[in-house]
Amino acid sequence: MKCCDSTHCDFTQESIAGGVSRRDFMKVCSAAAVYMGLSESFGPTIAEAATTAARRPPVIWLSGQECTGCTESLLRASHPSIGTLLLDLISLDYSETLNTGAGHQAEEFRAKSIEENTGKFILVCEGSIPVKDGGIYCKVAGRTALEILKETAPKAAAVISFGSCAAWGGVPSADPNPTGATPVYKILEGTGIPVVNIPGCPPNPYNFLSTVLYYVTFKKLPELDDKLRPKFAYGRLIHENCERRPHFDAGRFAEKFGDEGHRKGYCLYKLGCKGPETYNNCSTLRFNDVGTWPVNTGHPCFGCSEEGVGFKAPLHSPAEVLYVTPPAEFVSAPPEKGKGASALAAAVGGAAVGAAAVAVGSNLGKKDQDNKEN
Ligand code: SF4
Ligand code: F3S
Repeated sequence: MKCCDSTHCDFTQESIAGGVSRRDFMKVCSAAAVYMGLSESFGPTIAEAATTAARRPPVIWLSGQECTGCTESLLRASHPSIGTLLLDLISLDYSETLNTGAGHQAEEFRAKSIEENTGKFILVCEGSIPVKDGGIYCKVAGRTALEILKETAPKAAAVISFGSCAAWGGVPSADPNPTGATPVYKILEGTGIPVVNIPGCPPNPYNFLSTVLYYVTFKKLPELDDKLRPKFAYGRLIHENCERRPHFDAGRFAEKFGDEGHRKGYCLYKLGCKGPETYNNCSTLRFNDVGTWPVNTGHPCFGCSEEGVGFKAPLHSPAEVLYVTPPAEFVSAPPEKGKGASALAAAVGGAAVGAAAVAVGSNLGKKDQDNKEN
C-alpha cells in the first residue's frame, strides 16, 4: 500500500513499518543531494528515481577477507534506518551475510541473477582478495574469492569496493601480508570495468547510500578522484574541517592521552592524528546520526580510509601534513594594499607561524607546493 497520494512516490506502508517514513525518506534524499554537492532541490528527483520499482538495481554482494564490519555499520545506522532504506532501494539478490538461503540454493540463485542481469547489476565487494598460492586463503562454496571476482565482475554494470579492505587491502594486507591480500581495483586493472572505491573501516553508510542514489538517479557513477573515490565524499582532507583545527593553527596540542591539553580538547596531531593526510568527510558527515566521529571522542584519526596510511603507518607516528599554510594565491595582497589586506595577511601569517612552530620534523608541509591547485 502506498504511503501517500503523491503520483511521484511509490514508497510503501511496508517501508514505513520497516522504520522509514516518507518524511524521513525525503529528508535523506535531500541530504544526499547536498552531500553530493547538488542543490537540495534535487531531493525530490532523487526520491522519485529511487522509488520507481522498475529501476531498482540488482546487487550481488561478495565477501572476501573481511570482518563483516562494513555490512554491520550499514545495517546498524539509525534515524532513519539506512539498512531498511537501502534494502528498499536495491534488489539485493545475493549476500553471504544476509542471504536467507544457504549452500547450493544460494549459489544457484546468485548464478541465476547474474545470468538474467548481465550488464545491469551492481557488484559490491567487501573484503580484500588473497592472491598468494592461487588464492586458496579465501574460499566460498569451494571456489576462491579471486576466481569468483574474475568471473562476476566482467558481467556487472559497475563494481563498488566497500570498505578499506576491498579498496586498499586493509587489515589483511598489513605487513607481512601473508595471504597476498589485494584490493579489488588492482585485480580488475586494465579490464575497463568501472570500479568505485568507498574506503573506510568502516566506511560511512551515507557515502555508500549517496553513491547508490546517484547511480539510480543519473544512470551513471558520480565523479571520481584519481583513487576512484567519489569526489563528493573524499574531496577534502579531514584536517580541513576538523573542530580542533583552530588549536592546530595556534599550536595547542595534546601531548599525551589524558593530559591537560587532551582534556581541554586540543589538537591530537602529536598523538598521531592522520587527519592531515586522510581524505574523507568524517569531520563533516560524522557517524551514527549522533554527530560522533573518532576525533571528537578524543582519539586521533588513524587514517583508516587512506591508502598507505591506515593499517600501514604506525598508529602514533606524526602524519605528513599536506598543507601548513593557505596557498599563496589566497593571501597575496589585493591591488589596493589597504589596511584590511595587511591585517588579513598578518592574521594568516600568524596562523602559519603557529602551525609551523609546532611542526614535527620534516613531515609538515612537504606537499604544500604540489597541492596548491586543490
Ligand atoms: Fe583535527 Fe587531527 Fe588535524 Fe588536529 S591534526 S586539527 S585533531 S584532524
Ligand atoms: Fe577513519 Fe579517520 Fe574517519 S580513522 S573513520 S578516516 S576520522
